[in-house]
Amino acid sequence: MRIIGTGSALPRKVVTNDDLSAFLDTSDEWIFPRTGIRSRHVISDEKLEDLAVDAARKALTDAGRLPEEIDLFLCSNVVNEYLTPGLGCIVAAKVGLNCPCIDINCACPGFIYSMDIVETYFMAGKVKNVLVVCAEEPTRMTSWQDRSTCVLFGDGAGAAVFTEGNNVKGIRLNAQPDPDKIWQFRPLQPTPYVTKTETDVPLQMNGREVFRFAVTTSVRDIQEVLGRCGVKLEEVDHFLIHQANMRIVEGIRNRLGVPEDKFATNIVDHGNSSSASCPILLDECNRRGLFKPGDKLVFSAFGAGLLSAVALIEW
Ligand code: COA
Repeated sequence: MRIIGTGSALPRKVVTNDDLSAFLDTSDEWIFPRTGIRSRHVISDEKLEDLAVDAARKALTDAGRLPEEIDLFLCSNVVNEYLTPGLGCIVAAKVGLNCPCIDINCACPGFIYSMDIVETYFMAGKVKNVLVVCAEEPTRMTSWQDRSTCVLFGDGAGAAVFTEGNNVKGIRLNAQPDPDKIWQFRPLQPTPYVTKTETDVPLQMNGREVFRFAVTTSVRDIQEVLGRCGVKLEEVDHFLIHQANMRIVEGIRNRLGVPEDKFATNIVDHGNSSSASCPILLDECNRRGLFKPGDKLVFSAFGAGLLSAVALIEW
């Protein structure tokens, strides 16, 4: 398969580090050097599905495809206001898709997990045009009293359209199941038969261990995928790394020994938007005209699970 269109959409509200320090014991002096973040787009009165629809429509327009030409839709999402149906069905109804909708919850590497699933459908000859949308509102998961988590996140949606081709060179999905490192608990409806006490727990994260996991797994998996595909590090044109923390991106870049100009970033004014992060970055780079046909792109993402993934694709 190959990518023929991209799109993205961000909430209107921009929250700066200084805005946060008005109600939290934090500061731009603490946040920026440790994360690379100065501001983030935060859901206020928008609905996540509308951002997802906007990103999807832009990707379809960029690809020159009509909604009725899409024969599979994957939606990557951790949380939204509905428990059921999946966000994919809600978005599909608004976009006018008439195809199967699959929702996945693979946290931050959701875009690469989606690409792996979609590629399998192409290899089986079951599809001709596929839409992937990653839409996330992690700012609705954190406690806004918890300065160690809420400063890291931003919201948004990113999308890509795929058609037949031979441009996916290699993908590696990885799981190191360890749910205690990043988690959130949301109680279900009580019943007359549930006797345990259930309370809401906002997003919890062991920042240091997640940091270590991210750098280690990303470097190892990038080297493995490139080695398997017979591609040298210096032959890669662009590294699109999940925008979780600038220091994580820098840690990966330094260990690989790759020049800075091959690592596009947008974390400074986006923060971490979970699975939407990679496709938003992809769309912004695409619209800036950064990619030439034949360029080699490496994606790498990591997050709750702990899950991680790397993909090598040709533009
Ligand atoms: N403002 C001011 N102080 C803060 C703060 C904030 N926003 N957040 C934490 N602190 C304080 C802590 O309370 C702690 O204070 P103490 O020493 O008095 O207890 C101190 O800063 C150090 O906290 P620590 O958690 O050890 O900092 P750190 O250097 O590990 O940086 C992260 C914290 C979260 C920035 C870092 O661990 C990280 O980015 N991890 C990866 C997280 C991530 O990307 N997760 C998503 C992956 S998908």
